[in-house]
Amino acid sequence: MKVNGEDFQTIWTDSTESKIYIIDQTKLPHKFSTKSLHSLDEIINAIKIMEVRGAPLIGVTAAFGIALAMKNNPSDDSLKNASSRLVQSRPTALNLQWAVNRMNEKLQSISAEKRFETAWSLSKTILVEDIRTNQSIGKQGLHFIENNFNKKPLEVLTHCNAGWLATVDYGTALSPLYYAHNKGIDFHVWVDETRPRNQGAHLTAWELGQHKIAHTLISDNAGGHLMQKGEVDFVIVGADRISMHGDVCNKIGTYLKAIAAFENNIPFYVAAPKSTIDTDATKNFFDIPIESRHEEEVLMMQGLNSNNELTNIQIAPKGTRAFNPAFDITPHKYITKIITEDGVYSPQELKSVYS
Ligand code: MRU
Repeated sequence: MKVNGEDFQTIWTDSTESKIYIIDQTKLPHKFSTKSLHSLDEIINAIKIMEVRGAPLIGVTAAFGIALAMKNNPSDDSLKNASSRLVQSRPTALNLQWAVNRMNEKLQSISAEKRFETAWSLSKTILVEDIRTNQSIGKQGLHFIENNFNKKPLEVLTHCNAGWLATVDYGTALSPLYYAHNKGIDFHVWVDETRPRNQGAHLTAWELGQHKIAHTLISDNAGGHLMQKGEVDFVIVGADRISMHGDVCNKIGTYLKAIAAFENNIPFYVAAPKSTIDTDATKNFFDIPIESRHEEEVLMMQGLNSNNELTNIQIAPKGTRAFNPAFDITPHKYITKIITEDGVYSPQELKSVYS
């Protein structure tokens, strides 16, 4: 997608096969900066501190983490160690595990000498596939919107950032909106700020602004009020993991928005690739690991000071303790449709399509 009119992806490589390039998302929206990552350790750190974030993007980045680990040491132990460290770096989003498993399936069956070359090539394949998948989600979503809504302007609400910054390109929840915008459909997006990391305020508002899509930032607490006032036609969000029953794990606060939408008869859509669907139906989905992040993310806020410098400020009394679960689970009864690259399904249909 475009940054100041120039085409960008969130992650890319060069011919040296020794590093990857990323957009450092911790600096957005105030500073657009890119950086290179040269090792498994640097990649794990970038995932943990959320220089790269969003379920599909951390999956693609993790694949390159395995590849760079194989460049350094292609042994079985090294593969095992890299895989387990990557999976633990952000444990909720299934896409990360999915990418690590896919790399392992391929690499375990080949000799150590061939591992780096194969791993690098498969990582690049996963990267390109992510773009194609998100384009398909966008087209499926656009078709669905065109067939189901003709109000002008359409009022859409989204939570967190499931746009191109959360993927390699296009995004999941925002992909249908980019396609709709390109087709001239008249709509406006309510952007939840998404405390505590403010992905809505920092990232979604920035992305939509770069593409000149009409949007308004709202505090997380405003969504229910807008729904009650008839100011929201549908909600669309991404997902970090989806159960075979259609329960959706996504950024903390998604659950509350879904309840408010249900209460006000507003459709609630989830857009995600099939790599987000947890096909292990034996476990209780409500027991999946929910990442608990540092309390500083709740106690501090980041922004520009009057000298235009990026600054952290404390918002609670010194010594206050905070609890910071990063995701919640929305039961399927609150979800109207799930949009994947293959089609648009009710939560009940997922099992027959994907098992
Ligand atoms: O903590 P983050 O910023 O990685 O969380 C992102 C989300 O929750 C997204 O909605 C989800 O990963 C889907 S991204 C296409």
